[in-house]
Amino acid sequence: MHATARAHTNIALIKYWGKRDESLFLPTNSSLSITLDEFYTTTTVSFQPSLNKDVFLLNGEKANEHETNKISRFLDKIRIRANKQIYAEVNSLNQVPTAAGFASSASGFAALAAAATKAIGLEVTNQELSIIARQGSGSACRSIYGGFVEWQQGVLDDGTDSHAVPILHENEWNVSILSVLLESEQKKVLSRDGMKRTVETSVFYSGWLEAVQKDLTTAKQSIAERNFEALGKVAEANALKMHATTLGAEPPFMYWQSSTLDVMQKIQELREAGMQAYFTIDAGPNVKVLCQPKDEEAVRQALLDLEKVKGVHTCHPGPGIVYLD
Ligand code: DP6
Repeated sequence: MHATARAHTNIALIKYWGKRDESLFLPTNSSLSITLDEFYTTTTVSFQPSLNKDVFLLNGEKANEHETNKISRFLDKIRIRANKQIYAEVNSLNQVPTAAGFASSASGFAALAAAATKAIGLEVTNQELSIIARQGSGSACRSIYGGFVEWQQGVLDDGTDSHAVPILHENEWNVSILSVLLESEQKKVLSRDGMKRTVETSVFYSGWLEAVQKDLTTAKQSIAERNFEALGKVAEANALKMHATTLGAEPPFMYWQSSTLDVMQKIQELREAGMQAYFTIDAGPNVKVLCQPKDEEAVRQALLDLEKVKGVHTCHPGPGIVYLD
């Protein structure tokens, strides 16, 4: 009873920012992302009758109790579905350059959902897998598919219509996503806590909800037309709106640091000089830059010239879930 699966991280161009149901991970808005080729998690799950609790190894080392409990709670959902009370050894390897500014929770829970359902003998469609992965970390539901992916928020209370849907296969449109690693302090409000505080207290949250559906429609239209400029513009504007909500929260908070602003300004300068490059930022200080493959090297060099930029990693659209045995 064991299986191995690999899932790639994704970067949202239209952000998931807020839950309407915290235990089922149901979002307040639909979102859209690109699955990336360079960063991924490979997870082996082995259910063993001899175990009396789950064991979680992360990058070869036994994970702490907090991390192991998170994995166990997630496996409980799969055990209930399979009607089998059996514990597992979970072995996860993160192929994410150290502190690359990518949350590994998306690729982590997508790979775990795929490996665990297969290992326990459940036959699930990718749509069902997306619903399962969502309940580990919302953004994980998008990592089931490759390329451009939409997470449709759904309307049902049980979450059975809240899952990802593939929009464009990874081979259908090549764009570049540069992951910019910055010199920054570690102080951090986790995305889960940040979105909760924003939903509950931000005076700007209603504005976010009013705008995000329109941004999503524009993004989907731009993708359908392969209109890079329109996609970049709406992605950057959407990220700015998400971050604006944090400033209206109680207490207010912000994910940006001075190095974040340096990159944002550099991207604006590049655009003024005629280059099509756009930024997006998740719940942390690091920046991702969207540009066209023909410009990726020039943009990368321009970013590396900035004092607080420690590295730039070039990614492209990558695949969905892959089973390895
Ligand atoms: C800013 O998926 O990490 O990256 O569902 O609480 O695990 P939980 O949150 P998570 O949040 C991601 C937030 C974001 C935007 C996005 O990826 O859409």
